[in-house]
Amino acid sequence: MPSSDNAVQGTNDSSSLSKASAANLGYFQDSYIKYFTSKKVRRSPLINRGYYIRQEAVTNTVIQFLNTKTFAGIEKQVISLGAGFDTLYFRLLEKDLKQELTFLDVDFPTVISRKVNCISAIRNHKIISEDDDKHRLDPNYFLAGLDMCQPNFLKNFLSILNWAGMSRYVPTLVLCEVVLPYLDSDKYELIINNITKIFPNLAFVAYEQVLTENCFTNVMLQHFETIGTPLRSIVKWPTVAERLNIFSEYDSACDKFFTCNMNEYIKHYLNEEELDRIDELEPFDEHEEFVLKCWHYILFIATKGLCSMVEYPQSFVPSPKSFISGNLDLKLLAMKPYMCYGHSATKFGRNVLLIGGFGRSPDGSDSRVKDIKCFHPDIVNFKPISSEIPLELMHHTSHSISDTETLCIGGRKSPRQINSDLYLIKESMKENEIDIAEIKCNCHKELLQRWRHAGDIITLNGRRGIFIHGGKRNGKIISDPIIVWLDNYSIEKIEFKTELPYLHSHTITAISNDTAVLIGGLAKSGTSSSAVYRLNFKESTYEKILDRSICSRFSHTVHYLNDKLIIIGGVSYDSQLPDVSVVCLNRLSVLSNYTLQAEEDTRLAFHCHASVLVNDNIYIFGGGGNYFSMENLQFESSQSVLLLWDSLQASALPEIVQFIENRVGKSGRVQCENVSMLTKSNHKASNFDLAISGFPLPSFTVHSNDLLEEIARILKPGGKLHVVEAITDSRTESQIASSLKLSGFISIEKKSLKIEENLLKAYQEHLKANNLSLNLFTSSKPNFEIGAKIALKLPGMTAPAPQQTVWALNADDANDDMDIIDTDDLLDDADLKKPDAESLRASCGDAQKKKKACKNCTCGLAEELENEEKSKAPAPKSSCGSCYLGDAFRCASCPYLGRPAFKPGEKVSLTDTQMKADI
Ligand SMILES: C[S@@+](CC[C@H](N)C(=O)[O-])C[C@H]1O[C@@H](n2cnc3c(N)ncnc32)[C@H](O)[C@@H]1O
Repeated sequence: MPSSDNAVQGTNDSSSLSKASAANLGYFQDSYIKYFTSKKVRRSPLINRGYYIRQEAVTNTVIQFLNTKTFAGIEKQVISLGAGFDTLYFRLLEKDLKQELTFLDVDFPTVISRKVNCISAIRNHKIISEDDDKHRLDPNYFLAGLDMCQPNFLKNFLSILNWAGMSRYVPTLVLCEVVLPYLDSDKYELIINNITKIFPNLAFVAYEQVLTENCFTNVMLQHFETIGTPLRSIVKWPTVAERLNIFSEYDSACDKFFTCNMNEYIKHYLNEEELDRIDELEPFDEHEEFVLKCWHYILFIATKGLCSMVEYPQSFVPSPKSFISGNLDLKLLAMKPYMCYGHSATKFGRNVLLIGGFGRSPDGSDSRVKDIKCFHPDIVNFKPISSEIPLELMHHTSHSISDTETLCIGGRKSPRQINSDLYLIKESMKENEIDIAEIKCNCHKELLQRWRHAGDIITLNGRRGIFIHGGKRNGKIISDPIIVWLDNYSIEKIEFKTELPYLHSHTITAISNDTAVLIGGLAKSGTSSSAVYRLNFKESTYEKILDRSICSRFSHTVHYLNDKLIIIGGVSYDSQLPDVSVVCLNRLSVLSNYTLQAEEDTRLAFHCHASVLVNDNIYIFGGGGNYFSMENLQFESSQSVLLLWDSLQASALPEIVQFIENRVGKSGRVQCENVSMLTKSNHKASNFDLAISGFPLPSFTVHSNDLLEEIARILKPGGKLHVVEAITDSRTESQIASSLKLSGFISIEKKSLKIEENLLKAYQEHLKANNLSLNLFTSSKPNFEIGAKIALKLPGMTAPAPQQTVWALNADDANDDMDIIDTDDLLDDADLKKPDAESLRASCGDAQKKKKACKNCTCGLAEELENEEKSKAPAPKSSCGSCYLGDAFRCASCPYLGRPAFKPGEKVSLTDTQMKADI
C-alpha cells in the first residue's frame, strides 16, 4: 500500500478523535464514538466547533432524507463511502430511524476490519463476517472493505451492493464526508460517474473543502500537504460551482443541487438558543479563524429522480455582493515582517508604538508579546524599547493622549486572565526606554475588565476622556459604555437614551469632539454587523446611518480622514474577502470597495491587525491568526501614473482616469497621453511611477521599440509598465517580450485577459486574425538609471528617508479585472457626467440671460467676457481630439495645457467635486 494511503487512513483516526473530543464536551450527542477511540483527547475549541458544525450539517441532512414524507413506508438506502469510524448508523439507531433502511459503510479493507473489531466490543451488537472484507451487523447494517481507487471498483462495488441486498431503484443517499478531496481528480470523477449511473433515485451528499480567495485557503492546503494528505482533486475544481458541474456533465446527470458553506449553515440552520448553548460549552476566542475556516467547508447535495423531491439544506443568501476588485497594490515594505495579531498600534509623537498581541519572538517561538516596539515611519523600521513592566496583553485598546503619552485599556492574557488596570505609557528620559505606570482604579474597576472592546478619545463639556464600549467579559458579549476621564483617570458609567448594542470586535472612531461612529462587530456567531452608527455624546443618542452598504465585518480597523471613513479588512459572514471600504460621511455613501490582495497567490489576513494614520498614509501592522501570513503593509499615496491611449476609445477615458485617480489618492497624479504623441511630447525623464498602455479596450497599439524606450526613459527607476496587446501569428508573445527587454524592461510577466465576444470580434476584424489572445504584459524599469550612482551604506551613516510613494497600482488593476470592474460603481451620477460648459460653470452668469460676471468673479466669466472680444482669433487645434476634457486627458505638448476643461469654443471652470480626490 503506498504510504499516502496510510496517511489518508490516518485522517480517519484523527476525525474520530476530534468527534469524540467534541462529543465529550457536549457539542453533540454520540454515545457510540467512545468505542472507536482508544484514547481521550481534548481538541482546541476551534476544532471542536468545526466538528460540531460538520456533524450537525451531515446528520441533519441524512435525517431530513430519511424522514421525508415522500419516502414514508418505502425502502431507503444510505451508503457511506470512506465511512471510517463514523458512527452514523448507530446514531440513527438511537433516533429510531432504522425502519425500512439498509445502511452500508465502505472504506479501505484495513479500516473496515479495525471498525469491525471496535464494534464487537459494543454489547448486543453481533457482527457476522462473511469474509475478510464483508461484514454484517443486524439484518440491515453492512460494512465492506474496498479501495475506491482500484481499477475494478465498479465491478466490486456492484457485487457488494448485491451481497447487501441493495437495490438500484430504491431512494439512495450516498454520503462522502471529507473523502473525495484526497483522491486524484480522475478517480473523483469516475466515482461520481459510476454512482450517478447506478442509482436513478439518488441523493449524493458531500461535505468537503473548497478553495476561496481568502487567506485560509493557503493555510488549509499547506496543512493537508504537510500531513501527507494533499487535497489532490479539489485543486482542479476549487469552487462549489465547478464541483457541481461534474454532476451535470454525464448522461445520467443529477438534476437538482443544494449547496451551502458552513457560515451559511450556521446563519440559517442554527437558532439563537443553540448558538448560546455552544457559547457556554468552553471558552472560545478564535472568532476570526472560525469564520475563515467555515468559508472553506461546504455541504453539497446533487439529486435526481425521487430524491429530488426532498428539501435539503441550502443557502438562502444571494451570493455575496460582488465588490469592485480594483486591487490596491499594498506594498510590502522591505523590512522584517511584523508577525503579530491582537496587538494595538498608536501614534507616539512622530513614531508609532506597537503594544502587546500574540506573535513571534526573536527565538522563533510564538507567545504573547511582552515588549513594546517603536515603529519609525521616517526610516521605515522598528526598534524594540524596554520597560520595567511587561505588558502582555491581547485585544486591548491603546489611545494616544499626547505626543508623549499613550493609555492602554482592557485586554487579556488568557480569556480567563482579564486586565482591569489602566497602563499609562510615557516617554522616558533614557534612550530606547519607555516608562509604564500602572493606574489602579478604585471605582468601577470591574467595568474596565473587558477585551475585544472599542473606543476613542472624545471631549464632552470641556473634559477629555476615552469612550469605551462593548467587548467580552467572562466569555459574554457586553455593551457597558463608559468614559475614562483623562484629567483624573476616573471611570464613569454612561447611559444612552436607548441601550447601545452588545458587540465585540467592532470599532469606534471619533469624528468630532462629541460624536463618533461605531462600525461592524460581532453580536454572536453568525451575526457580523454591517451597520454604521453615529453616536452623539452630548445628546446621549445614537442612530444607524448606514446598513448593508458595506460588507458586514468584525476585527477590522477604521480611520477618519477628510470626512471619509476608511474601513480596513476584518472577517465577515457575508464575504470571503476582506476589503477596504471608503465611506463618505457627508453623502452617506460608499465611495468604493477595494479588494485587499497584495499579489496573486499572496493571500493576506486582514483581521486582528493594527493600523495607524500618519501623514495621510495608513500603516498596517501584522494581522491574522497564529498561522496566517503576517506582514507589514503600507498604503502609499502620491503615485504619478501615465495612461497612454489611442484615439479609438476617447469617450471611455474619463471613467478610466477617475478609476485610477481613486487609487492614487489626493496627492497622486494621473496624466493621459495619446500614444502617437508620446515621442514628440518631451516629458521629463524619470517622471512617472507607473505607465499603462493599451487601455481603454479595444486598443490596437503595437508597442514598438521606440515607443517602449521612450516609456522607459520617462518612468522612474523601479517604475512599472502595464501593456495590453493582442498576440497573433504575426505579432507573437516572444516578439513583445523581446521588445520590452531590448527597451530595458525587466521582470516581464504575461497574463491572459478574458475577452468578451464583441471585443474579440473588433480585434479579429482590425487585426485580420482569427487566432488571437489578449494579454497583459507587466514589467519594470530596473531600480537604477543607466549610468546611475548608488550610495553604499557604511556603518555610522544614517539611512536616507524613503521616498513617499503612493497607492501603487498593480498588474491586476489593469488586467482582466478591468473587464469585471464596473467603473460606474466607483462614481456617482454627478461624477459620471462628462465635463461640459454648463455643468462645470460656477454660479455667476445666468445661462438664459446675457452673460454678466459678478463683482469679484472667480469662475472665469469676467475674464471670459473680457477676452471674448479679443478671442475672435482661431482656437488652437487639437491633434488628439480630447483636449476639451481637461489636463488629465491632454498630451504634454497640448496647446490647451493648464486651461480648464471646455467644449470647443467655450470656456469653463471646474466643479467642486472634480477638484476633490476620492480618498
Ligand atoms: C477524513 S476520513 C473521514 C471518515 C468519515 N467519513 C468521517 O467523516 O468521520 C477519510 C476516510 O476516507 C477513506 N478513504 C480515502 N480514500 C479511500 C479509498 N480510496 N478507498 C476507500 N476509502 C478511502 C479513509 O480511509 C478515511 O477513512
